[in-house]
Amino acid sequence: MGNERWTRRQFVGRAGKTAGGVVLGLSLADFLAACGTSSPGTAGTGKLEIFSWWTGPGEKDGLAEMFKIYKNKYPNVTITNSAVAGGAGSTAKAVLATRMQGGRPPDSFQVHAGQELIASWVKANKMEAITSIWNSEGWDSKIPKDLKDIVSSNGDVWSVPVNVHRGNALWYNKKVLDSKGVSPPDTPEQLTSALSSLKAKGIANPLALASKGGNWQVQMLLENNILAAGGADFYKNVMSGKASFTDAKVVQALTWMKQWLPYANTDNSSIDWDEADNRLIAGTAVFHIMGDWAKGDFTSKNWVPNTDFGVVPSPGTKGKYMIVCDTFGLPKGAPDRDNAVGWLKVCGSQEGQAAFNPKKGSIPARTDVSPSGFDVIAQCDNADELRLNVSIPPTPADKMSRMGVLGGDNAGFPNGRRPADDVVDIELRALAGGTPFTPAYNVSPNNALGDGIDKNDTPFFSTFPFLASPHPGNEVGGPRVNSNPGSTNLNPNNLP
Ligand code: GAL
Repeated sequence: MGNERWTRRQFVGRAGKTAGGVVLGLSLADFLAACGTSSPGTAGTGKLEIFSWWTGPGEKDGLAEMFKIYKNKYPNVTITNSAVAGGAGSTAKAVLATRMQGGRPPDSFQVHAGQELIASWVKANKMEAITSIWNSEGWDSKIPKDLKDIVSSNGDVWSVPVNVHRGNALWYNKKVLDSKGVSPPDTPEQLTSALSSLKAKGIANPLALASKGGNWQVQMLLENNILAAGGADFYKNVMSGKASFTDAKVVQALTWMKQWLPYANTDNSSIDWDEADNRLIAGTAVFHIMGDWAKGDFTSKNWVPNTDFGVVPSPGTKGKYMIVCDTFGLPKGAPDRDNAVGWLKVCGSQEGQAAFNPKKGSIPARTDVSPSGFDVIAQCDNADELRLNVSIPPTPADKMSRMGVLGGDNAGFPNGRRPADDVVDIELRALAGGTPFTPAYNVSPNNALGDGIDKNDTPFFSTFPFLASPHPGNEVGGPRVNSNPGSTNLNPNNLP
């Protein structure tokens, strides 16, 4: 795996309800860094009004990056930023609805992929299809089909995705957690006991909770817990009405919430998600379950990932990815339509997504954006997902078998591909017939086949890109020999 590769996720989604979440399965389809920019539109003069709810730290910074790019391309266009404060669009959506109904649409507006776009604005015939822009920009080869599917209906595409957020994340104040001797929880039960011990150790409200602006933050908590209790398919069934909200698994999800809420700040109805983040920064709370726009917020406040704060999947959801995808669309009657088309092109461009997403805390919707410039958590998240079948949880490091599936470790090769998997030995033995399904062939001498190298000769790094530099390909004769005594230069050209 080279340094410039990330993995991509494959969507098995449903349209989002509250924050626009969809649950994914993940797949191995790397995307390579490449150079390039979007092609200019026909825009040029006049104005451009962009509507969103990105006023918080991180999110407003990401938006500003895209404005900068637009300004460079179209210096004679004046941009009006009509962002309306309130996390998850709690106020903005109502303002937008009034404007759209009154025939006063902005030139382009932020909207979640999924039914928030399709069942509302598209169904109401308020949007212009952007299919021809999609095609002329060649986004089919840059944006995964699964994402395209959730912004499409009736054979047309209706908006352009700018990012992929993860909704199921548990953020924690690393220094406080370490100092209290508490580990980041994997399961809901572990979170309950972590909260209880933090409280016993003097932190009155260890769980930061916001519910200002319509309670969407608590709905997200419930969504994450439903995913934890029932898995991705059950989650999709509940959200699409195929399973009942009275199901025992939903009751379980609510029961976990009931156990956690006594540890939360009681002023939650007067604070929004970014203020709940501030409780972590202040150390008055330790955990916050929130989408990874929280990461954009933390880093904009100079809080350092993996030093000041850490993150794990929200309890019980390891290996599952609740996606929240922000997009921009083109309303019918946009006053500055041509300028809006130029804006959509920036939103879908490599340059736009490379500038926007590191500030926003999300990863790009495009598959060709270099990971350099992203924080270590974004990079590690992606490295962690070098597995094909994420319904199988990762094997803890001390229990991994270098022989992967052949060694009884189903998270390994060929189900996934981890750096320590001994792919050569596994393949040699499989070629000799020794698969897990043909145990009679997985015996001596087949099960002794191999290249004689069972582990890396250099340690992994603890951070991205994890792997040490490869050895030069022209090395011969075993370990490198220094042919130049007295020097430490191991340049292969000096070898005998
Ligand atoms: C979500 C949105 C994110 C972020 C968050 C908080 O709905 O998708 O981009 O802005 O709200 O405002």
